[in-house]
Amino acid sequence: MSPSTSLIKEEPDWRPKVIIFDLLTALLDSWTLWDASTPSATSMEGRAWRERYLELTFGAGAYVPYESLVRQAARDVGLTESAPAALLRDWQTLQAWPEAGGVLQNLSTQGYRLGVVTNCSNHLGNLAARRVVDCMTGEKKEDLFDAVITAEDSGFYKPVRQAYQAILTAMEVEAIDVLFVAGSAGDVEGATNAGMKVVWHNRVGLATKGKAVPLREARTLDETLGWFL
Ligand SMILES: *[C@@H]1O[C@H](CO)[C@@H](O)[C@H](O)[C@H]1NC(C)=O
Ligand SMILES: *[C@@H]1O[C@H](CO)[C@@H](O)[C@H](O)[C@H]1NC(C)=O
Repeated sequence: MSPSTSLIKEEPDWRPKVIIFDLLTALLDSWTLWDASTPSATSMEGRAWRERYLELTFGAGAYVPYESLVRQAARDVGLTESAPAALLRDWQTLQAWPEAGGVLQNLSTQGYRLGVVTNCSNHLGNLAARRVVDCMTGEKKEDLFDAVITAEDSGFYKPVRQAYQAILTAMEVEAIDVLFVAGSAGDVEGATNAGMKVVWHNRVGLATKGKAVPLREARTLDETLGWFL
């Protein structure tokens, strides 16, 4: 059972210069799209497919086309080609978690530089980052993210260290000045190993993995980032 809020009680007096987000799990609700793309349109098929996909990306290391992994994972769990076809076709219907826009607006207004590192192709990664901006209510911030680095850009899938290093390089920042907002357990470990402080937006209550412990773990983004809002 995952805790619903902070693992340590005290607010750190440390403040990041840069906040980097996982995109498809921490900021966007990609679960719903995966589920909706299956023949039964249920989480039963969607979860199995997504979990298989995550196993494949976890083991992938060097970049191989994202779209191929999505198709491979579907085949592995017995789904026909219609499922990945629907996922890729409907990609631009991805929705941000409801509080994401407000949280990002708040952090940006406070002067934090924001970035994204995502296990994705350039095409789909940039479309997905765009979806976060589109889902913001009120004033849209076209330049919300200073940098969006995809697995195709860096040549590596998270949780490989080079994938995280690429965003640090792109934003010209040291790991020690970064807060990483993880979406999955693999991200908690990967970003911690890359030297960053990590909080975990564990929306759907995924199981932990490995030894890394986030500074804080919660089911919503505003809870997850509570110390910095
Ligand atoms: C950010 O959110 C916090 C908590 O809701 C609020 O106190 C603060 O004024 C907000 N800051 C900005 C810049 O919107
Ligand atoms: C990429 O891999 C990391 C590490 O396993 C995982 O946390 C993350 O959710 C994956 N991203 C996507 C889009 O599947």
